[in-house]
Amino acid sequence: MKGDLARVLFDEATILRRLDEIAAQITRDYRDRELTVIVVLNGSLVFMADLMRRIPLPLRLDCLSVASYHGRAETSGEVIFKQIAVPDVQDRHVLLLDDILDSGHTLAAIREKLETAQPRSTRVCVLLSKKKTRARKVDADYVGFEIEDEFVVGYGLDYMENYRNLPFIGVLRKELVAGATR
Ligand code: IMP
Ligand code: MG
Repeated sequence: MKGDLARVLFDEATILRRLDEIAAQITRDYRDRELTVIVVLNGSLVFMADLMRRIPLPLRLDCLSVASYHGRAETSGEVIFKQIAVPDVQDRHVLLLDDILDSGHTLAAIREKLETAQPRSTRVCVLLSKKKTRARKVDADYVGFEIEDEFVVGYGLDYMENYRNLPFIGVLRKELVAGATR
């Protein structure tokens, strides 16, 4: 699998060091609040597991499953929710966790849908944020790392469902990304 990468961006130790910092910040910010963490599956699973064990606060966990990719490396703009029920977050302080902020379609759609359940507040935490002009504006309150506009895999992130189990994050070789123009 490692041979499919152009280069490694963040090794495991670097990721975990950054999670220590973000978790400390989240712990300070949510000290006296009713925290509900909502995880966007599947890409954020590894990130979520490492992050939430660093937050020593009472919290609830809910998962959301969406699809917006249809197996290609470009986002389609259409975000399909795989479950009908929105998590019960009324009057809760919601922290949305996603693996990566790219076009913004996914998080913007999830944020909108969650607002219908009337949370007290909503913040967004992403492990990675691509430096690019987004199709939809999403302000992430906590960002692990800013990266260039390249296709990355590992540490939960996939390309066509592969590479999620790599313990580090790397850039996939361009020729392996179908229809890649960048
Ligand atoms: P957005 O809707 O374009 O912001 O894309 C968000 C989702 O697309 C993420 O949750 C990922 O599942 C996926 N995604 C975007 N960029 C990448 C990437 O570089 N590698 C792997 N998945 C990505
Ligand atoms: Mg994802």
